[in-house]
Amino acid sequence: MGFMDDLKKAGKNLSRALKDITGAPFVKEMCGTAANMYRLGWDERNGGNISYLLDEKEVTEYIDLNEVIRTIPLMGVNAADFDVTPLIGKIFIVTGTGKYFKNVEDDPENNLGIVRIAADGKGVELLWGFADGGRPTSEFPAHLMSHMARLKVDPENRVVMHSHPTNTLAMNFVHELDEKKFTHTLWEMCTECIVVFPDGVGILPWMLCGTDEIGRATAKKMEEFRLVVWAMHGIYGAGKTMDETFGLIETVEKAAQIYMLTAHLPRVNTIKDEEMLQLVELFKVKCRKDFLNLK
Ligand code: 13P
Ligand code: ZN
Repeated sequence: MGFMDDLKKAGKNLSRALKDITGAPFVKEMCGTAANMYRLGWDERNGGNISYLLDEKEVTEYIDLNEVIRTIPLMGVNAADFDVTPLIGKIFIVTGTGKYFKNVEDDPENNLGIVRIAADGKGVELLWGFADGGRPTSEFPAHLMSHMARLKVDPENRVVMHSHPTNTLAMNFVHELDEKKFTHTLWEMCTECIVVFPDGVGILPWMLCGTDEIGRATAKKMEEFRLVVWAMHGIYGAGKTMDETFGLIETVEKAAQIYMLTAHLPRVNTIKDEEMLQLVELFKVKCRKDFLNLK
């Protein structure tokens, strides 16, 4: 047998040794999270999207990184000033544009994709998924810019999540969209809010989604906040793990729900700022003190 045959045989052995990707922890996490987001009513139809920065070593257990299925240009980006150079070669699992969250768990291969940021930083190489010709979420530019911003602040950041949680959205229509006031109201609604998101919630005015403008604006906010409200649209969250990121949005949504259940009623009791400060001290978190009204 010649050298080429040996090489082919080695290649075959390699592909035979690959594990079933539907059992990969990162695929299961994407499926479980999308299912929870749908179950909670946060992500109607194709609303919402998730991207998860993967460890290349872990991915090689499941797919051959040399096999690029197709190259996909990034949507909605102005090629001239869209720069994701720091992410070139990075691998993400991401939800597909137009895909319904309710379907992800039953059909991950059509609704999710594993992509690598191409060498020119203007497109992605599909390594797995989007089997019916799909492509990454239209919000991928905003996700990528948010990843870059969060990675600068926290090198362990892995997840960016966008969602349309009902009460958070409802609150946008009846509460002032001022970061300090909005965050403060949320902190007042559940005792643990200030501990879960001591850095507060950033807010962007209504902007056109799916563009690099909103991506850049989101990323700018992400330098300061792990949560960014897109006014009258939804919310972005970022974190080290799927649980942390989901938990951030879940806690905001719970607080917004309490607000929406009580906003039209006379307020008899409230959590005071001095009490919030006690929580911050006990749990040793660094909060946005300028978002409190301390005497
Ligand atoms: P995609 O279907 O492109 O992910 O868009 C959903 C969404 O929520 C847009 O903001
Ligand atoms: Zn959206």
